Amino acid sequence: MKFKNGEIEGVIAKKLTRFSDERGYLVETFRTDNLPNKLKPAMSYISYTSPGVTRGPHEHEEQTDIFCFMGPGNFKIKLWDNRKGSKTLRCCREVIGGEDNPVRIIVPPGVVHGYRNISEETDGIVINYPDKLYRGWGKKEEVDEIRHEDKEDEFYLDFIKEDKSQMIWLIGNKGMLGSDIEKLLKEKRMAYWASDREVDIIDYKALDKFAKDKQINWIINCAGYTRVDKAEEEIEESFRLNRDGVRNLALFSNKRKIKLIHISADYVFDGRKERTAGYSEDDKTNPINTYGKSKLAGEEEIKKTLVEYFIIRTAWLYGKEGNNFVYTMLRLFRERDLVKVVEDQWGSPTFTADLAEIILKIIKSDVDKYGIYHFTNEGVTTWYAFAQAIYNKAKKLGLLGGKRQVEIKPIKANEYPTLAKRPVYSVLSKDKIKKEFNLKIRSWEEALEDFLSFLKIKEEKLKGKERQ
Ligand SMILES: NC(=O)c1ccc[n+]([C@@H]2O[C@H](COP(=O)([O-])OP(=O)(O)OC[C@H]3O[C@@H](n4cnc5c(N)ncnc54)[C@H](OP(=O)(O)O)[C@@H]3O)[C@@H](O)[C@H]2O)c1
Repeated sequence: MKFKNGEIEGVIAKKLTRFSDERGYLVETFRTDNLPNKLKPAMSYISYTSPGVTRGPHEHEEQTDIFCFMGPGNFKIKLWDNRKGSKTLRCCREVIGGEDNPVRIIVPPGVVHGYRNISEETDGIVINYPDKLYRGWGKKEEVDEIRHEDKEDEFYLDFIKEDKSQMIWLIGNKGMLGSDIEKLLKEKRMAYWASDREVDIIDYKALDKFAKDKQINWIINCAGYTRVDKAEEEIEESFRLNRDGVRNLALFSNKRKIKLIHISADYVFDGRKERTAGYSEDDKTNPINTYGKSKLAGEEEIKKTLVEYFIIRTAWLYGKEGNNFVYTMLRLFRERDLVKVVEDQWGSPTFTADLAEIILKIIKSDVDKYGIYHFTNEGVTTWYAFAQAIYNKAKKLGLLGGKRQVEIKPIKANEYPTLAKRPVYSVLSKDKIKKEFNLKIRSWEEALEDFLSFLKIKEEKLKGKERQ
């Protein structure tokens, strides 16, 4: 179905006036003597929308909306006439409203509408005064809403069309980091394809086959061989994935003129740096285990083949999906009275959700600041202090039930032998990424608290379901 730009019958966009004085400003959002005849607002609600996030598209069968976009934040509002019998059927229009253009938009039933917060960093506010009560009197009725929020829907596709110059292929979407990136891509309504094991990156032909006929502007590669200890026994396998697989992605990106974002690790360093500053991107690499060597080999393949790449080295990842140190500690705290943790290795824990944010920010900013970057949460700690923080915060949140106390005992790394040697000090300096992308990074403690709070909410939801 084709839409052409034009006015839509019944849609009224009216500039709102700000009455300013030294105290601030005031806006008349609506006056009944200013609304079309018979239009009577029945309720009002306010919504906050994060930068880059879209609401809709959807339409109502009976309800008329009276939206006010007056800041904070700026929005792109899109409207399509989908009403059979309307004189302006198949017309669509776009309005930019918000802080820079305060506007009220009346949207009659049958007009599909959606809006996206196009601000870089500001949470946007929208107020609506619909003329029907949400779910009717006493909330006893069906929701009057026809949703077009599916990826296949023509209105949705039309809405994201302009984003298609940023079409992303997320590789490794079922892994710990990949799943958080996919969640964010959905939240931000960014256009993407996703694959994991089913498109084996070691097989170049599989890449070609998957991508045939697909437009792709960016690849985010989260696939990798990540079992640090096992890599000492599976040297070939780790190189096949972390070097050869990455070489395939670099060659493929080069052939198709795709920008590649690849994730690498702190373990490319030996950890012997003086402990006053973290490793910078230009510091000499010298991996001391197979995993680190294979990750470095992957970096080399990219540097050899591509110009338009971002290699992001990160460290000590934990996230909602997959095994990680936080989950292991929580399990041990539930099972044991004594937990021994290494106290002489330093690093910076990193929440995958925070890394996912910066990766999408790089894509959105679409600037040619290619190269290697370091990203972790702020702060430096040891595995022992990290474990203590997990215990204390989890206890406070009630994630570790009962009064039982667990003793956490610091031990030296040589008392806990592992197949792979670990760098003693693998702290990464984030100066470059902060400067180039104007970032504020939160501390590892704050991110950890956020993660544990998420686990608490999840636990409560599960309990609630069990009780039902
Ligand atoms: N975890 C950390 O602490 C950490 C620290 C620094 C850097 N990194 C790097 O960050 C990236 C993401 O780490 P993560 O912990 O999220 O990894 P992860 O959970 O192990 O996810 C990797 C994903 O890639 C998939 N995969 C494996 N082989 C594949 C193949 N041949 N083709 C396509 N997909 C394949 C895996 O499937 P299977 O699960 O079925 O194998 C998995 O879903 C990796 O590059 C890692 O080296 C991680």
